[in-house]
Amino acid sequence: MGTKSLCLLLASVLVASYVYTPIPENIEERWKLMLINAGFRTVSHVAEFAEWLGLMHYMEVLMMITSIEYTAPISDENVTVTDTKFNNVPARLYMPRKQSSGLKRAVIYIHGGGWCVGGSAMEPYDLLSRWTANKLNAVVVSVEYRLAPMYHFPVQFEDVYTVVKFFLQNSVLVQYGVDPNRICISGDSAGGNLAAAVAQQLLDDLEVKVKLKIQALLYPALQTLDLDLPSYKDNENKPILPKSLMVRFWSEYFTTDVSLQEAMASNKHVPAESSHLFRFVNWSNLLPEKFKKDHVYASPIYGSSMLGKKYPGFLDPRAAPLLVEDTKLLGLPVTYVLTCQHDVLRDDGIMYVSRLREVGIEVIHDHIEDAIHGVLMFITSPTDLALGHRVANKYIEWLNINL
Ligand SMILES: *[C@@H]1O[C@H](CO)[C@@H](O)[C@H](O)[C@H]1NC(C)=O
Ligand SMILES: *[C@@H]1O[C@H](CO)[C@@H](O)[C@H](O)[C@H]1NC(C)=O
Repeated sequence: MGTKSLCLLLASVLVASYVYTPIPENIEERWKLMLINAGFRTVSHVAEFAEWLGLMHYMEVLMMITSIEYTAPISDENVTVTDTKFNNVPARLYMPRKQSSGLKRAVIYIHGGGWCVGGSAMEPYDLLSRWTANKLNAVVVSVEYRLAPMYHFPVQFEDVYTVVKFFLQNSVLVQYGVDPNRICISGDSAGGNLAAAVAQQLLDDLEVKVKLKIQALLYPALQTLDLDLPSYKDNENKPILPKSLMVRFWSEYFTTDVSLQEAMASNKHVPAESSHLFRFVNWSNLLPEKFKKDHVYASPIYGSSMLGKKYPGFLDPRAAPLLVEDTKLLGLPVTYVLTCQHDVLRDDGIMYVSRLREVGIEVIHDHIEDAIHGVLMFITSPTDLALGHRVANKYIEWLNINL
């Protein structure tokens, strides 16, 4: 064998072993997902390298790459799309063109991206909003909240809250022809986190008279306390969202100080003074047997009280909506929760389902056995998956019937 072919063989083996990730058995289009995931990992490695060189923050590199997917607000035959502002917070607005008598429904959409990346203008989010507006003949408001590391908690929460509160005014609803009894807040991943937090906080806001009909939480992140749940353990290295990246997103939401990230990575970030909060995320009670498998519940290990004092945000229910008393859940709207089997955040969603049902909130839980985190992102070429289309249709179908 010549040197050339030997090099070629070596290179192919290297590439193949780099691309190769174990993809769960029940997932379709395995090779495509593997390639997509290799792309994600490459971006992550480039970001780590740029950060190591001191050139850029890790999240800035991710942001640069995702911004390639940004689209202009282009109207089509069905939907008029504009970039606007609600009380000074930017949002992309989708108005259906179809003539209809009577008031329309509305969906306020909060995009995902770990509070650090993403945007309403990203191609898959833009498409999802168009589909929703078109299929439901509904007004869709997709919020462009500010992101970390430039802005930390509670800026993201407050931006979303500002838009929702502004939109829910009767005068504004009249202006857009929206039925005040048929409004949904919806979000995926970090957006599901923000949607759930906003829906909770609205309950205590006496200035807001209009009630949400539905909250739709799509593979949401809902708690910061236990980053060693069975789903974190089972899916530590699954495609798209490995545990290390989720830990990075969580810590970056509150601070760029790596001490929080390190403490979270070893699940020793919660101070003993906050031990009373652990009952809200006790998976031993809140997970059905099927998801516990052979995991053994262990008592929490506490960290220094310094972190909790410096970054109280990670113990705040506006960042971690599972950390509230049951009484704070009363009055929440009908809740749709989508969870994915192969997702570190799976158990956050399932525990919220259990807690909401315990206090009598109507919950519809769609658990997708063959899905990975972020599945709704994979609806645009060349990274589209049949799975992405299937789950998007399922969710929009449900909204169409129930909103
Ligand atoms: C407009 O709506 C129709 C009917 O739902 C659909 O077939 C068509 O593809 C839509 N057009 C665009 C540009 O999405
Ligand atoms: C969690 O639940 C288990 C089983 O009910 C119980 O033994 C344990 O003390 C609980 N832990 C906390 C922190 O609430």
